[in-house]
Amino acid sequence: MKQAKTYVLTKELTPIMFNEIAEEYDRLDRKLSFGLDLTWRKKLTQYLKNTNKNFEIVSDIAAGTGDMLAELKKMNAKKYIVIDPSVNMLNIAKTKVPDAEFIIAKAEEIPLPENFTDLITVAFGVRNFSDINRAFDEFYRILKPEGKLAIMEFSVPKNIIPALGFKFYVKYVVPFLGYMHTGNYQAYKYLAESIFDFSKRYDIKSMLSKHNFTNVKVRNFIFGGVKIYCCSK
Ligand SMILES: C[S@@+](CC[C@H](N)C(=O)[O-])C[C@H]1O[C@@H](n2cnc3c(N)ncnc32)[C@H](O)[C@@H]1O
Repeated sequence: MKQAKTYVLTKELTPIMFNEIAEEYDRLDRKLSFGLDLTWRKKLTQYLKNTNKNFEIVSDIAAGTGDMLAELKKMNAKKYIVIDPSVNMLNIAKTKVPDAEFIIAKAEEIPLPENFTDLITVAFGVRNFSDINRAFDEFYRILKPEGKLAIMEFSVPKNIIPALGFKFYVKYVVPFLGYMHTGNYQAYKYLAESIFDFSKRYDIKSMLSKHNFTNVKVRNFIFGGVKIYCCSK
C-alpha cells in the first residue's frame, strides 16, 4: 500500500490531483466501472455518428488520458483538439492520439477563437470545473453555429433502489479501492463526493438551455447513474 496524501481538495486543486493519479487513472477507471466506461464512450460516439453530421474539427475538453478522443477518432474528423489543465493526464493522452493538437487549459478559459469547432465533447469532466457557467459560455463561444456539444457525466439515480446501490458503491467502495491502488484516499474521496455535490447543485439540462443551447436531449445509462446530454448551438 502506498503513502497516504494529506491535503484539502478544492476545485482549483483538481488539476494537481489529476497529475498525481494520472498514471493509475486508466487502470482504476476500468476496474471501478467494471469496464463499462469504455462502453459509455462508445455509445456517445455512436450517438454522434447517428446524427449524420460532418464534424471536421472535434474538441475534447477535460480530455484527461484521452480515452474519449481515442473513441472519437473513429469518426474520421479532419482535426482533433485535446484540452485539459493536467499535464500528466495529457502526456498519457499523447501516447494514444499522437496526431491530435494538445492544449493545456481550463474549460473556463479556452484559447480558441469563436465559431471554431464543429463538436465539443466532455466526458466525466464538468463536475470538476471551478465555474460551470463560465465554461458553458466558452463552449458556446468556440462552437460553430449548429455545432454540437455532448456531455457525459455521473448522476445519482432518481429511483430509490438503484440510488442506494449507487451511493454505497461511490461513497465507500470507490475511495477504498482508489486508496488501495494509488495511496491517494483524498483524490478518490473527492471524486466520489463531487458526484453527489454536483448532482445536488446542478441541473445540466436546464443550464444548457439557459446558455442558449437548443435541442437538448438526455440519455440515461445504469438507471440514470450516467447521463449523456447532447445539444446544438
Ligand atoms: C475524471 S477525468 C475525465 C477524463 C476523461 N475525459 C475521461 O473520460 O476519462 C476529469 C478531467 O477533468 C480535468 N479538469 C479538472 N478541472 C478542469 C477544468 N477546470 N477545465 C477542464 N478540465 C478540467 C482533469 O484534469 C481531468 O483530466
